[in-house]
Amino acid sequence: MNINTNTKLKDNQGKRMSALKVFSAAIGYMKADLLAMCYAKDSSIGQEQIRWVLTVPALWNDNAKTFMREAANRAGIPNNSLVMALEPEAASLYCIEWMKRSDATELERGEKFIVLDAGGGTVDIAVHQIQENGRIKELNKASGGDWGGIKVDQEFDKLLKDIVGRDLLSEIKKQYMSDYMDIFHSFERAKRRDFSIVGHDKLEIDLALFKSLFAGAIYDIVNHLSILFRQSQVTDLTTMFMVGGYSECYLLQEAIRFKFSSLRVLIPPNSVLSVLKGAVLYGHSPRTFQSRISTFTYGIETTEPFRKGYPVDKKIFINGKSHCDKIFCIHVKDGEHVNLGKSVSKAYKTIDPDQTHMEFIVYASIKRTPKFTDEDGCFQLGSLTVDVSKMSCNKYGEKQIRLELIYGGTELEAIATDTTTGKTSREHFTLARAGHRC
Ligand SMILES: Nc1ncnc2c1ncn2[C@@H]1O[C@H](COP(=O)(O)OP(=O)(O)OP(=O)(O)O)[C@@H](O)[C@H]1O
Ligand SMILES: [Mg+2]
Repeated sequence: MNINTNTKLKDNQGKRMSALKVFSAAIGYMKADLLAMCYAKDSSIGQEQIRWVLTVPALWNDNAKTFMREAANRAGIPNNSLVMALEPEAASLYCIEWMKRSDATELERGEKFIVLDAGGGTVDIAVHQIQENGRIKELNKASGGDWGGIKVDQEFDKLLKDIVGRDLLSEIKKQYMSDYMDIFHSFERAKRRDFSIVGHDKLEIDLALFKSLFAGAIYDIVNHLSILFRQSQVTDLTTMFMVGGYSECYLLQEAIRFKFSSLRVLIPPNSVLSVLKGAVLYGHSPRTFQSRISTFTYGIETTEPFRKGYPVDKKIFINGKSHCDKIFCIHVKDGEHVNLGKSVSKAYKTIDPDQTHMEFIVYASIKRTPKFTDEDGCFQLGSLTVDVSKMSCNKYGEKQIRLELIYGGTELEAIATDTTTGKTSREHFTLARAGHRC
């Protein structure tokens, strides 16, 4: 998803408007509607008592997540009452809860399962495992693609072009947009009605032709799953949950059941609401997820005494001694399983005995093992400055600070501890504000 704060949307007449404006208006509308409903029932509810959960596809890049956060902020939802949840995770919580209440045999501890969230735009896939303590572990990085229901609509649009011709269809769109949209509404109904006739007296499509409109998108999904199942982390899966509106498509269900016959494929009723209902569960207990897979490498920019092999262009002199600048000191590696709330800490020393402050610049990288912070794919998340003026030096003239990076999945917390006094300073870095592609 390439949406970001500068994206412009085009309406069906080609007029452009800032996507941020459109999204914040939509979020603002839903917020006002929900508040009105709440107040009607209990007028004592205050805004500060509400935690808003905004869901985003796990596949979205950080620019897109930043964009959603910004849109929510503009709609009057401040960061401290906003939780961003990943859609397959929310769906996973809902599916587990649904199993407890249904006749389906519940997942056992240690069982691995897959959540396929097939929506209009994206198909988002997550592989999870229930831990002994009942919490959930992410086994594989979220994957998927833009093979949602819209792909089928695009095929239908192509079919219309073949029937009436490209020029006439664009003329119809220009002159009779509401009729064109009516055709699509009929098509949407036909999709959901298990392929009966579209628009009775207007357009009748042969069933085989109708089914063929689904073939490409379904092939992409099944093919992706086949490749995914070859990966070592994704063996021994027992169950697949299909959620999202497009999961209600019989052709997609049939294709998946046929190709992966050893899997138990479960589709919760009203699967289109799974993410929404799961988001409510997530808002109440975001800690249900025990570990995620880091999608970046995270670390701190440091300076070390210059040694043989370091690039000469990184050589700097501090108090007359040569140092190598911009070293990427890795705390968490891309692809590593990280327990949420668990920290990785490293000690950092001052270079100059008279140093009054230490600045820790937190970096992320799309490379697994970056060496320097100015390499391609590295980007700065923010910084934390610690006052070391009152610290005393060790016998080598150094002051030492221990820096912990705590990975929370959507946020990174940095805590700097003065190793002599135990005094701490902390800072939060919103990974969603990283401003870089996942
Ligand atoms: N019974 C059905 N058969 C086929 N397609 C269906 C059916 N029901 C819904 N869909 C399709 O599901 C899509 C909407 O699903 P959903 O509401 O989950 O999407 P979304 O969450 O808005 O999109 P995304 O997750 O990509 O942001 C539409 O493309 C719709 O045509
Ligand atoms: Mg969705």
